[in-house]
Amino acid sequence: MKPLFVLLVSTAWTLIGAQNYYQGLMDYLENRLLAIEDRMQLWRDQSHRYRTEMLDFKKLTSEAIHGLRNDHSLMSKDLEGALLRVDRAEREMDYVETQNSPRACANRVDKVVEQEAWGLQEREEDEDWEELQFRVSDCVEIISSIKSAKILKRTGSSKGMWTRDPKSSKVYVFNGTSGDTIYQFNSVRDFSRSLGMASSRTIKLPSEWSGPGSAVYNGYLYYIKQEVDTDVQVVKYDLLSETVTETAMFPVESHASLYKLNPETVADLAADDEGLWLLFSPSEDEPNISLAKMDAVTLDIEQIWDTQCPRENAEAAFVFCGTVYVVYNTRLASRSRVQCVFDVNDMIVSEEAPLLYFPRRYGAHASLKYNPEEKQLYAWDDGYQIIYKLTITRKVLT
Ligand SMILES: *[C@@H]1O[C@H](CO)[C@@H](O)[C@H](O)[C@H]1NC(C)=O
Ligand SMILES: *[C@@H]1O[C@H](CO)[C@@H](O)[C@H](O)[C@H]1NC(C)=O
Repeated sequence: MKPLFVLLVSTAWTLIGAQNYYQGLMDYLENRLLAIEDRMQLWRDQSHRYRTEMLDFKKLTSEAIHGLRNDHSLMSKDLEGALLRVDRAEREMDYVETQNSPRACANRVDKVVEQEAWGLQEREEDEDWEELQFRVSDCVEIISSIKSAKILKRTGSSKGMWTRDPKSSKVYVFNGTSGDTIYQFNSVRDFSRSLGMASSRTIKLPSEWSGPGSAVYNGYLYYIKQEVDTDVQVVKYDLLSETVTETAMFPVESHASLYKLNPETVADLAADDEGLWLLFSPSEDEPNISLAKMDAVTLDIEQIWDTQCPRENAEAAFVFCGTVYVVYNTRLASRSRVQCVFDVNDMIVSEEAPLLYFPRRYGAHASLKYNPEEKQLYAWDDGYQIIYKLTITRKVLT
């Protein structure tokens, strides 16, 4: 019995020991689990935080991207708007340029193109249309020679000026180098058949014209007014209503003359389809001829060029298709010749332009007026009234 008791006790003891051992293990495990759970909770918290942060960030980026997308579309809209405006400005510039362009001869064609662009119905006849299209090339045209000369008449004093209004075909005669009277004839034929100025309409101007540098265009007379001790003025005179419609001062020293061989010419006006031009010398010290483009309606100066054509030995000048042709001679009059040209479009270089000789004549030109309608020159030569026909060719573009 005793050994059994001992076994029992020892077993119980062992059992109790095992029990203790397991309890300790359980406690240990429990603590570990708790610690792990704690840590997991911490991780969970942290991951939740990370997740929220992540979500926030995502929301933010998507908002930002959305915003950017909107901004971008706004920006592209702005850009498109800006491009449209640039386009329009460009077109406006082109329009303004064709309106004021000294690139003269293209004007008419541009106007036709404009009309088409604006869908205007009032287009000219087919004939005119073709003619206008042909005129595109006018601006690259140059005078290649003086084809012929026709002496129409001998009237008035040795110096003077005559011209024909390209619009009305009426002829205007300016006898001498200054005065307040001009003579109007209905046509060149009327003038050539007339007996002196008697059969003309006499127009008395409100002030004197100075020098043979006037121009007549579209029913208006443009003349230089220069009274003693006053500035030089350009006067626009309505020949129909006989009233001055506009005057403008000009930056010209009153004692300066334009052409050294014709000192009476203070300044020289030239009017044609392209508008109104003024050849002048800003001061007596200036060796070269200056050119101004004027608005024929308001007499505003639009642009000024230095032609680089000397005044010395110059006799007269005229404007053809945006190009100034200066005619030179010698003091002892010999053959007049165009020895300097100036193209406002820089398409014709003076050195490359053909040397134009006028036929041998009596004296020297007091004036030369180009008529764009007939492409001929009205000249006053020692009291003779002469018409020069011109040969015109296309400039070979290099
Ligand atoms: C032309 O003017 C001159 C003076 O410059 C004058 O002697 C002559 O009579 C005038 N001729 C005519 C036809 O008016
Ligand atoms: C005048 O024109 C000539 C060319 O004919 C040029 O050499 C000269 O520099 C010009 N003078 C002035 C003051 O512009």
